[in-house]
Amino acid sequence: MRLYDLLKPLLFKIDPETIHHISCSLGNLSAGIIRNLFQYENERLKTKLFDLELKNPVGLAAGFDKNGKLSSLMSALGFGFMEVGSVTFRPSQGNPKPRLFRLPRDEALINRLGLNNEGASAILNRLKKISQIPFGINIAKTNDAELIGEEAQEDFISAYEVVKEVGGFHILNVSCPNTEDGKTFENPASLEALLSRLNRSKIPLLIKFAPDLDEGVLKENISVCESKDINGYVLSNTSSKREDLTEDPVYVGSIGKGGLSGVPLFKKLPTRVEFVRSIISRDKPIIAVGGIDSGDKVFQLLRAGASCVELYTGLVYKGPSIVKEINMELIRLMDQHKVERWN
Ligand SMILES: Cc1cc2nc3c(=O)[nH]c(=O)nc-3n(C[C@H](O)[C@H](O)[C@H](O)COP(=O)(O)O)c2cc1C
Repeated sequence: MRLYDLLKPLLFKIDPETIHHISCSLGNLSAGIIRNLFQYENERLKTKLFDLELKNPVGLAAGFDKNGKLSSLMSALGFGFMEVGSVTFRPSQGNPKPRLFRLPRDEALINRLGLNNEGASAILNRLKKISQIPFGINIAKTNDAELIGEEAQEDFISAYEVVKEVGGFHILNVSCPNTEDGKTFENPASLEALLSRLNRSKIPLLIKFAPDLDEGVLKENISVCESKDINGYVLSNTSSKREDLTEDPVYVGSIGKGGLSGVPLFKKLPTRVEFVRSIISRDKPIIAVGGIDSGDKVFQLLRAGASCVELYTGLVYKGPSIVKEINMELIRLMDQHKVERWN
């Protein structure tokens, strides 16, 4: 039993957003000590994402470090890379609280934070100083229901313009389910319009899709991306559906709108990765994310064609040793299946 398993019942008595801020502040103060506890390194885990050398394929998903303040802590926890953001052009407080909910029986969360962040220009200087860990910047449209049509595109593009020369890669979050207008850029026409107006930098650009798109629409969206030389894909964001849950449906219903994350998302992920891998070239990165909390799941995803993985909710349920545990299990599985390395 881990120390975290003993502490979890206490921590879970506190509001999830409050405990997130408390543990991140404490963690940032003690990153040096944490590093000694949670590092696990092995040559065979090293991999590449574009030109970035990753010490292992496990990254921190977007949304945990929205303002670029946690790079030392995430490096100390052993992550091979991380996403910062989503960053939007204008600062935003996000949606009214409460807006983050636990579903412990499913090891899941529902959130409707609504892209709260300090805004691209305020975060930029912090981003320029990150050196501890390879990172990408996740960019989204400001959460404002009045920004629609061309103005929405313009806002999205303005955020990209602010950060486009910084970071190892960029991700356009076209699939956030938590904006006030509930709109995403996930139909081929809106995506095409957005991508056509981008004045790209040399830094690789990825697109992050929702898990809820049916295969036909996803394929059409990817064909738009391919025609615009998009460099890779993040699969997937949180889900607006409430499938595969064991929590009481009355409780789940009472939470209301929001994106579901965690274990229930994993079920469809390997097939999703396989599908996208079958329609894009072998050397184009796919970052798989959704319900990852074990080395076995990472092994399945890498076998399905993912280049690396990310997690968020697994860190909440399994605690700070999750990356070390995943990587140790991954090496055991690589031995067992005689896989020398991933690239
Ligand atoms: C509280 C919370 C906030 C999130 N915020 C963002 C965000 O700002 N941008 C984004 O692209 N994804 C965001 N996500 C989605 C995650 O990056 C990830 O795609 C999703 O949670 C599935 O992974 P998981 O099951 O490991 O959490 C958020 C997820 C959670 C739980």
